[in-house]
Amino acid sequence: MPTTSAGSRGTDPFEQARHAGRELTRLTGVARHDVLVVLGTGLGRVATLLGAEGQPIDLTALPWFARFTGVGHRPEAWSIPIGGVQALVMAGRLHLYEGLTPVEVVHPVRTALATGCRTVILTCSAGAISPDLSVGDVVLIGDHLNLTATSPLSGVPAEHAAGTPFVDLGDVWSPRLRALAREADPRLSEQVYAHVLGPNLETPAEIRMLAAAGADLVGMSTVPEAIASRHLGAEVLGMAVVTNPAAGTSAQSFSLDDVADAAAGAAERVARIVRSVVEQLDPVDAPGARP
Ligand code: HPA
Repeated sequence: MPTTSAGSRGTDPFEQARHAGRELTRLTGVARHDVLVVLGTGLGRVATLLGAEGQPIDLTALPWFARFTGVGHRPEAWSIPIGGVQALVMAGRLHLYEGLTPVEVVHPVRTALATGCRTVILTCSAGAISPDLSVGDVVLIGDHLNLTATSPLSGVPAEHAAGTPFVDLGDVWSPRLRALAREADPRLSEQVYAHVLGPNLETPAEIRMLAAAGADLVGMSTVPEAIASRHLGAEVLGMAVVTNPAAGTSAQSFSLDDVADAAAGAAERVARIVRSVVEQLDPVDAPGARP
């Protein structure tokens, strides 16, 4: 088993992901996955609602996976048939605030893409900046602001076989998948998600700045995975549960437990939307593993 960490100099993170993908394929016994679903804070029960049964795959057993230290993020995955497609559901994710590099953060997603996934559904919790949003709302990510000053594509050579890092993000949040989600749940609105590094929460001045910059929501995840997925040609859907008013927009403070509880309250709605979108995917959306 190789011991270098993802993204360390002299190693190719795409080759590492292919290696981890082969191991994941071996452990699941499933030749190809079509759709990756990543569950955010407090949304672990969505896996069960989607049909997860039995022992999960231990993601930390796969090469180059970092330790999952985020509260409520378990390094577990299930392979679940939904409709005509095979979903890989991860019950947790990695974050930049865990002290990881962007390459380490997106290694699970790149690994899933190496098993064949062509569609990626990312879920997360977020704080509300827009006064139109309330705790418990589920919204689609329509666009984002990457305020982390970094990218998982940093350092990828312009001529890399995986594709140019100068990838067009104009449609990173797939209009087609957003339309499918709205068909499933017409109450879904589309919001702009600001990705901040964390782990500290925002100051009142930062929230005013984010609002002025056009952000409706703020969170500490999801955007690196979306960028890495789009770079490899996958279609991406993002869904956020509003778990709290952003710090500085309300006199009330909140804890991580409040965030997880609010997200858990939306698990059934999130699972229904995910299932419906996945069931509407034509098998041609998932033509198989990339070479
Ligand atoms: N700020 C940043 N990230 C978050 C928040 C927040 O208020 N809520 C959930 N994730």
